[in-house]
Amino acid sequence: MNAGPVPQSWRVTPSRAVRGRVRVPGDKSVSHRALMLGGIATGETRITGFLDSEDCLATLGALRALGVTIERPAEREVVVQGVGLHGLRAAGHALDMGNAGTAMRLSMGLLAGQRFGSTLVGDASLMRRPMERAAAPLRLMGARIDTQDGRPPVLLHGGTALQGIDYALPVASAQVKSAVLLAGLYAEGETRVTEPAVTRDHTERMLGGFGVEVRRDAATAALRGGQTLHGARIAVPGDFSSAAFFMVAGSIAGEGSLVLENVGLNPTRTGLLDILRAMGADITVEESDHQGPEPIATLTVRPARLRGIDVPPEWVPLAIDEFPVFFIAAACAEGPSVLRGAEELRVKESDRLAVMAEGLRALGVEHELLPDGMRLAGRRGAGPVFGAGRIDSHGDHRIAMSFAVASLQAAGEIRVVDVANVATSFPGFAQLAAAAGLAVVPA
Ligand code: S3P
Repeated sequence: MNAGPVPQSWRVTPSRAVRGRVRVPGDKSVSHRALMLGGIATGETRITGFLDSEDCLATLGALRALGVTIERPAEREVVVQGVGLHGLRAAGHALDMGNAGTAMRLSMGLLAGQRFGSTLVGDASLMRRPMERAAAPLRLMGARIDTQDGRPPVLLHGGTALQGIDYALPVASAQVKSAVLLAGLYAEGETRVTEPAVTRDHTERMLGGFGVEVRRDAATAALRGGQTLHGARIAVPGDFSSAAFFMVAGSIAGEGSLVLENVGLNPTRTGLLDILRAMGADITVEESDHQGPEPIATLTVRPARLRGIDVPPEWVPLAIDEFPVFFIAAACAEGPSVLRGAEELRVKESDRLAVMAEGLRALGVEHELLPDGMRLAGRRGAGPVFGAGRIDSHGDHRIAMSFAVASLQAAGEIRVVDVANVATSFPGFAQLAAAAGLAVVPA
């Protein structure tokens, strides 16, 4: 839970070894979805392993404002008293989604077909992010939605009947796919979504767990409107995207080994594992027995000599949140690396290509920023890869954590500023990283 005041910056001094067992917090994507589906289900939904982060608490607060009773019996446990598909009621005020793109875009789908209107807002970063990609298909279904120059506030007028559509996503986005499927629950007839590349499929898997029939073939997911969701038990796995920082840390460290327990290993999320292995990383995977729809594993990571990689384009959506920390690995690899086809990184919590390039420049790492990716030269010799310096995360949690990991190959202190938003996805990161051997302290 809340571990005291949130630091605004970190001082990270060089360290060489990481070791021990790490259990990362619950999956952010799965936690958002469990709350939302639980909210519109009939009966009770019990969530264990819930991610107690600011992003997921924004979704939790929004659902409470929409009339859903949600209890917190213990840490990482949530009980949602579902109100049924048509039981949500008007919030009476704007719903604040904080930093969470997933909360906002999925809520657009959830709320587009309600009898009442809703207004969605967020923090400064979210208010800059594109929302038309979700609004456009929902309008095709009959929803009345306004954005401001394509950005929030998002006004969902409600009160119109939705029709199913057959929609080909122009961008590979699990958030947009999910918004359309959620709206499809409220639509007449069938809703079909086809994606241009495989993206995370947590919504489709979880809908199945709530008793909704979702037909999936190749790149298409389809469902009939009006199906009843039945309250479920959801065990949220550890977040692969949080484990990713430790996968890179364990790979670039000079010595030690790290065991990462209870990591969600949904194949639509594990692009970084494939990338690191192709680079020569030493990561072993022991799959656990699991009952729910999401596979889980224990990973063991040992230091390795990484080689540069040309990231295959079809892996990009499967590793979309991991590129900040991938750039850290690529900087430590022997030989050049290149990432292309990743222009989506420019519209995340920050422009992750520009912000990572700025940070790499500050630490003296040779790279070339591309419109849709980055080229990195790779390490020069056996010495430290990163110089000392100051990194501005621009309020982006994943940028902050990536540069903390860089300290394992740094010549001097890295000061990372604007780190408070790490609490949006990974509360307790600094403490866990310090326990594993990183010299990270609040400053
Ligand atoms: C998410 C989908 C991805 C990802 C985000 C979480 C989700 O976004 O970057 O962190 O939970 O569906 P896009 O749908 O914009 O690719």
